Amino acid sequence: MRLIMLGPPGAGKGTQARILEERYGAAQISTGDILRQNREHQTELGKTADGFMQRGELVPDDLIIQMVEAELPRHPGGFIMDGFPRTVAQAQAFDALLARKGIALDAVILFEVDRDTLVRRLSARWTNPRTGRTYNALSDPPRTAGIDDEDGGPLVQRDDDKPQTVEKRLAVYQKQTAPLIDYYKRQGKLVEIDGLAPVEDVTQAIVAKLGPDAAA
Ligand code: AP5
Repeated sequence: MRLIMLGPPGAGKGTQARILEERYGAAQISTGDILRQNREHQTELGKTADGFMQRGELVPDDLIIQMVEAELPRHPGGFIMDGFPRTVAQAQAFDALLARKGIALDAVILFEVDRDTLVRRLSARWTNPRTGRTYNALSDPPRTAGIDDEDGGPLVQRDDDKPQTVEKRLAVYQKQTAPLIDYYKRQGKLVEIDGLAPVEDVTQAIVAKLGPDAAA
């Protein structure tokens, strides 16, 4: 299965990608997670990306495209792109990369969620920085506040989930990423999903829309 998760910050892309990777045996490729790991390990890429991420801006296209080109061959069994592509230039480069490899995209899942819900979700998000698993203090809290249910380690709030940075990320999404909706609609790949439904219902809706022939 080869999918792209498209939608604004907080729409549920990461949550669903982690669930679907198990179901479809396809790897979640989160450009945000890869960048955060690079920041943590103080690589050149991480140091360059840091300022852009703190300000809620996009990291330059050429860096992101190189990063994805390096990552893709590690996942021959399929992928679920989470947070990429995010600009028309990234989408065009990704199309060219897939064409060179003779790979076709199955679908682009668009998560539709209103702005107030996005802001509310992000301010209540807690993440396990070791595994990427997310919780939500309002809708899906861990058993003990601030502690991961699975590995017992601490949960953190992302520094770009501060209200001002969230506003910036939403504006950047509208300007630079939302044009991809038409881009993929024209390719006949877009699958629109109500992202306001409970997590399990969103998963079921995606699986239903991908159809019975989708690899399980
Ligand atoms: P990135 O890490 O990709 O962040 P994002 O796209 O802004 O998306 P989020 O991770 O915030 O949201 P999500 O949709 O995954 O929501 P989640 O499932 O966690 O990017 C961060 C930064 O890195 C960017 O700003 C940029 O600087 C840089 N970057 C990354 N990729 C780049 C690229 N391609 N080009 C350039 N720069 C790039 O859910 C949110 C919360 O809601 C959670 O608490 C969850 O538990 C809860 N929730 C989820 N679904 C539901 C539901 N159905 N009902 C109730 N609660 C739900």
